[in-house]
This record gives sequence, C-alpha cells and structure tokens, in this order.
Amino acid sequence: MTAPTLPGATAVTAFTVNGAPVELRSPGGRRLLDVLRYDLGLTGTKEGCGEGECGACSVLLDGDVVNSCLIPVAQVAGHAVRTVEGLADDGRLGTLQSAFLETGGAQCGICTPGMLMAAEAFIASGAPATDEAIREAIAGNLCRCTGYTKIIEAIALAAGAAGSGLPGAAPGEVRRAEAPAWAGPEVVQPGSLSEALELRAARPGLRPIAGGTDLMVMVAAGTLARDVPLLDCWSLAELRGIAIEGDELVVGALTTYAELRRSPVVAGALPALAQAAATVGAAQIQARGTIGGNIANASPAGDMLPVLLATDASIVVASIRGERRVPAAVFWTAYRETACAPDELVAAVRIPLPPGRQVRFRKIGTRRAQAISKVVMAVAWRTDGAPGAPGDAGASPVAGSPWHDVRVALGSVAEVPLRAPATEALLEGATPSAELAEQAAAAVMGDIRPIDDVRSTAAYRRAVTGRVLRRIVLDALG
Ligand SMILES: Cc1cc2nc3c(=O)[nH]c(=O)nc-3n(C[C@H](O)[C@H](O)[C@H](O)COP(=O)(O)OP(=O)(O)OC[C@H]3O[C@@H](n4cnc5c(N)ncnc54)[C@H](O)[C@@H]3O)c2cc1C
Ligand code: FES
Ligand code: FES
Repeated sequence: MTAPTLPGATAVTAFTVNGAPVELRSPGGRRLLDVLRYDLGLTGTKEGCGEGECGACSVLLDGDVVNSCLIPVAQVAGHAVRTVEGLADDGRLGTLQSAFLETGGAQCGICTPGMLMAAEAFIASGAPATDEAIREAIAGNLCRCTGYTKIIEAIALAAGAAGSGLPGAAPGEVRRAEAPAWAGPEVVQPGSLSEALELRAARPGLRPIAGGTDLMVMVAAGTLARDVPLLDCWSLAELRGIAIEGDELVVGALTTYAELRRSPVVAGALPALAQAAATVGAAQIQARGTIGGNIANASPAGDMLPVLLATDASIVVASIRGERRVPAAVFWTAYRETACAPDELVAAVRIPLPPGRQVRFRKIGTRRAQAISKVVMAVAWRTDGAPGAPGDAGASPVAGSPWHDVRVALGSVAEVPLRAPATEALLEGATPSAELAEQAAAAVMGDIRPIDDVRSTAAYRRAVTGRVLRRIVLDALG
C-alpha cells in the first residue's frame, strides 16, 4: 500500500481556475466556494443557502455545472474550474452575458452568476434549446426577482447565437494561495479501493465521502462535527461503471444521477432507474450525487431505494475481509441505519433482470426539481408469456394477464424504505381490473406508517400513496 495523501492544513491542492493554474495550501475539506471567494478573490460566485438548494454558487467543474458550496477542494485536484469571471471574452461581456443584458434577464443580480454557469453548461451540451429543456437546466437555480421568463429568453437567444462557448483562457502564472488556519475537515485520499478499505479498517473514524451532496450539507449545518476527517471515495475508479453481467445490471456505487440518466445500458435494461435519477435534485445535484451515497445515506426519502427494493437488488459491500451481497430487502435496518459494517464501503448494486418484468416509478413532491419526496413508489411485476430477455425492458405488459412476482416498494412513508406485503399478496396472481385497483389502493394505505412532518401530513401521504398505486394498476389495463 502506498502512503495516502493526508491533506490536513499543509496539503497543496493543484487545479485550474478559468484556465489559470492554482496551488492552494489548505485542509482538503475547505469548500470550493470559500476558496474561490476568499482565497482567490473571485467574488463573482455567490453564496445563498450554503446547502445546495439555490444554485447561487454554481461553477463549472470539467464542464459540468456543480454547487461549489458542496465540494471539498481536495476533490477538484487536477480538474478545471470555471467561474463567472471566466465567461468574459477578452475583458468584454461574453455572448451569454450580453443576452442577459439585452433581454433584462437580471435585476438584483444575486442569482445571475449561477444562472449564467448553468446556462453555459446547457448551451455547451448542444441540447436543443426548447423552453422545457432550458427550464430543466436552470431548475437548480433560484431567482427571486427577475422571473424566469426573461432568463429563459436570454438563454434561448445565446443558444441561437454563434460562438457562445467559453472563451479560451491563457494558462498564465501559477497562483498560490493559503487558507485560514481552520478551514475545513481533513480529507484522506486513497489511490485505490484496496487502500480505501485498509484505511477504513485502520481508521474507523474516517467518514466516507462520495459526491458530498448529503455530507457537505451536514458539515455546513454542524450535524457532522467539523473535525471528523473524510475518506474521499470520489476518485476510486473501481467503484464506477455500469454494465450487464449475465442476467444482472451492475451499477458502481460512484455512478452519478447524470450518468444513470444518459446511460444507454440503463435505458435498455431498467428505464425506471434512469427515471428515478432524473427526479433527484437538479442538474448540480445530479452531476455529483451518487447511487452509493443514496444507499449509504439511508434516508427514508432516498429516491433510488424503492426501485432497488422492487427489483430485488443486492447491495455489494466491500471490506478487507472481502465482498458480500446484502439483499436490498434487509439493507435498511432502522431510521438511517444500514447493514453495512463500520469497515465496509458500498461498492456496487446488482439488479436482476428477469425476462418480461415491468417496473413503474412515481415520485410525488412539491415541485419537479429540488423536491424531497412526500411519497415515492416503485412497482414491479411479471406477466406470463410476456416477451423479453435479460436486459430487454422493451417488453410491453400483457394486458389481461395475471401479475406474478409483484413487488410494491415505497419511500417517505415510514422510518425506512419498505415493501408493502399485504398489497403484494393481494396483487400476486391477480389480473388488473378497476376493482383490483381500488382494493390495492386500500391495501397499500394499511401497509405504510407515515408520519406528519414539515413536508407533508401522514393523512396526505396515506391518501396519495393509495391514489398513485390505483393509477399504476389502472394504467396496466391499457
Ligand atoms: C439540494 C439537494 C437536493 C436533493 N434532492 C434529492 C432528491 O430529490 N432525492 C434524493 O433521494 N436525494 C436528494 N438529495 C440527497 C443527495 O443528493 C443524495 O442522497 C445523493 O445520492 C447522495 O450521494 P453523494 O454521493 O452526494 O453522497 P455523500 O454526501 O458523499 O454521502 C452520503 C452518505 O453516504 C456515505 N457514503 C457515501 N458513499 C459511500 C460508500 N460508497 N460507502 C459507504 N458509505 C458511503 C457518506 O459517509 C454519507 O453518510 C438532495 C440533496 C441536496 C443538497
Ligand atoms: S449557496 Fe445555495 S446552492 Fe450553494
Ligand atoms: S436577479 Fe435577483 S434573484 Fe435573480
């Protein structure tokens, strides 16, 4: 095992900002946002919420739009950061900035740098600049005074103009900066999975961090003590990748929501997984949030978890003792508790692909983006004689045939994500009908144990859970 990098207060992180090289002496857990604003004086990047919700701190990281308030600077080592200052073209406003001026897309301006960076990433993606696509691209950026119409107009205008890409920046001299004495947690960066597992065994106090979209919020809120050192998993190549192996879909723990959404393998084998990924947060969260983080975070509202329960997935966990597979059905053991031992890491998820299986996913939140679910549901079943082979999700349900191997899985309706046993028993072997849809709706309301909280009441959650399942059964009628 080679010595891991132990950043602490004396570590140097090298990366580029707007094309210019930077070397920063700082604890690796210092937020990229603070490095940009306070250590490098790039105050164009703003802080609003400090917890991933508002997008004011958006920058580009290797071209992806991300929230700089959620990124420990150690994770940008060797990467390219672009800030709003980098949009200017030789000291003049760039095409996108000019479009915002022309259409009146900015008033107080607090959201504008973040909006510009989200817009820049969208335009660079080459996606058609439809109203809906632009709305989705900026869904992680809140504007409280201009109103979105003018902003959308500006982005459409810039997308249609030639040369709206970022201007190239001359490398220039290396900029050296130093952070204040306490500036963030220590980040330990292993070079391989085996090093990470040895560290996990030797230093149980190290807290794994993947995309940081949950963990950095905890650091900011003080719910994670600020002296807890972090074990950086983000660059462990062994935990990346999406593949079909035999009759299983295998997804590495570090796979992001953005990767799930654009994977042709997922689209072919299990579109419900991509559909679930598309409902998480907004572009900034999808670029960094991982499926392994969702699994290990064990929130009852984790959007991926019902899909994993409904598809009989296994969670692969790894330690220096080896790998083991834990069925999703027994992985989430209590509120925010998992079957993962203290020396283990979530390595992957393996999802069986039985022929002819159908999977439906629904999420109910207050709005389409950045909404933690009030209820999230995945339903899987197989019908006799349905066509399809492992990895073929194109098989259409055989209307009028009985359902088999029925799984009804739910999130946000109990202290853990759960399956609905009485509902599954009712639907098993039954043929969809209007009457069955009513019975299933009543059964599922009895299977759950929702609570009142800030997002919803128990009564609403119960009623909407019944309605969502009724609709899924009715839709299967054709
Ligand atoms: C604005 C905002 C919106 C969000 N919207 C949604 C949403 O709509 N739906 C939803 O489900 N979630 C949402 N989240 C939560 C979060 O984005 C997801 O749970 C995400 O999947 C976490 O992944 P991560 O890689 O960022 O995890 P991290 O924050 O890095 O880690 C999360 C937890 O998992 C542990 N961990 C991470 N990786 C591993 C591993 N491989 N092995 C063992 N332990 C590990 C960490 O120690 C930590 O306890 C949102 C978060 C924010 C800030
Ligand atoms: S400051 Fe609001 S998302 Fe970062
Ligand atoms: S311009 Fe004021 S918040 Fe958007």
